[in-house]
Amino acid sequence: MSKVLRSVVTGVGGYLPDEIVTNEALAKVVDTSDEWIRERTGIRQRHRAAPDQAVSDLAVEAARRALAAAGKTPADIDLIIVATTTPDLTFPAVATIVQRKLGCPVGIAFDVQAVCSGFVYALSTADGFVARGRSKCALVIGAETMTRLMDWTDRGTCVLFGDGAGAFVVEPGEGEGAISDRGLLGFALRADGTKQDLLYVDGGVSTNGLVGHLRMQGNQVFRHAVVNISEAVVAAAADAGIAVSDVDWFIPHQANQRILEGVAKRLGIDETKVVSTVAIHANTSAASIPLAMATAIEDGRIQPGQLVLVEAMGGGLTWGACVIRL
Ligand code: ACO
Repeated sequence: MSKVLRSVVTGVGGYLPDEIVTNEALAKVVDTSDEWIRERTGIRQRHRAAPDQAVSDLAVEAARRALAAAGKTPADIDLIIVATTTPDLTFPAVATIVQRKLGCPVGIAFDVQAVCSGFVYALSTADGFVARGRSKCALVIGAETMTRLMDWTDRGTCVLFGDGAGAFVVEPGEGEGAISDRGLLGFALRADGTKQDLLYVDGGVSTNGLVGHLRMQGNQVFRHAVVNISEAVVAAAADAGIAVSDVDWFIPHQANQRILEGVAKRLGIDETKVVSTVAIHANTSAASIPLAMATAIEDGRIQPGQLVLVEAMGGGLTWGACVIRL
């Protein structure tokens, strides 16, 4: 087979801010209970960024860990893509702030805004540079301070989200054009803007000039999530030329344990192959996939050479999936 350039994930890192907010603590703020939150979502706690921590600070910590895992330094980085929906400032892009804080040389840096699907979109975008030889060493980061978008009087949303960041170092690697190659083997990306009302923030620069709060019709989002994610998983597997059953590990966006289980059941995926961190991280939007990946690499579950499928759905609606051989 002919040689092809692949986008290979060579390092993964995650960062969670120090403060842990338990369900019990939230029950003192809104009319809810640990029992309700656990039963409906699987969430036990979430992390919250300190008041003086911006999303770029979380991103920088995750990036440092990913760089260490890859044996790289900031001087090696020529492309930074940050998936976030909670930037430090309206502009410049968080990616450029991360570039400055890490001390990376002049290169390409920009943000991707696809909410909870942001990391899947960012990784697929990075492939357009790395697998075309346009980047020798990329940082793909998902970082969020979702707690800053919460309406703390809305018990239907404020219990679901947390803060955190995760990062991949992505480098070009020569492959054979076969499914045994290391790297990003296939992906599927989707958006349906007609479903905006199901999940959005009611503020923005060009409308009311406010940061706004997250608004969601939770049960409708839930219904679409299982169907949409399942379709994207099958499409990404087909794009990679593999069967869904070939995958060693599934890393879903960590929104709700019932969504994770619903997708696994629909696709006949063994639940022991599904990485779940939703109990301790809650929904960290674009950060959830790389954070879950970092967790499962650190605890020894995910091994080099294994086939991993990541998937997500979020506001837009947007959704998608990627197949990666580590
Ligand atoms: N504590 C106690 N009661 C609550 C809470 C709470 N935190 N939140 C809602 N309720 C109440 C509601 O008021 C309602 O009460 P009522 O029957 O007296 O009116 C009752 O619980 C049922 O409300 P539903 O919204 O129908 O509850 P549901 O079983 O759908 O669970 C949930 C809600 C957890 C939000 C669920 O719909 C969900 O997880 N949806 C997916 C949304 C999601 O994860 N979005 C994240 C972004 S998109 C993504 O990442 C996939």
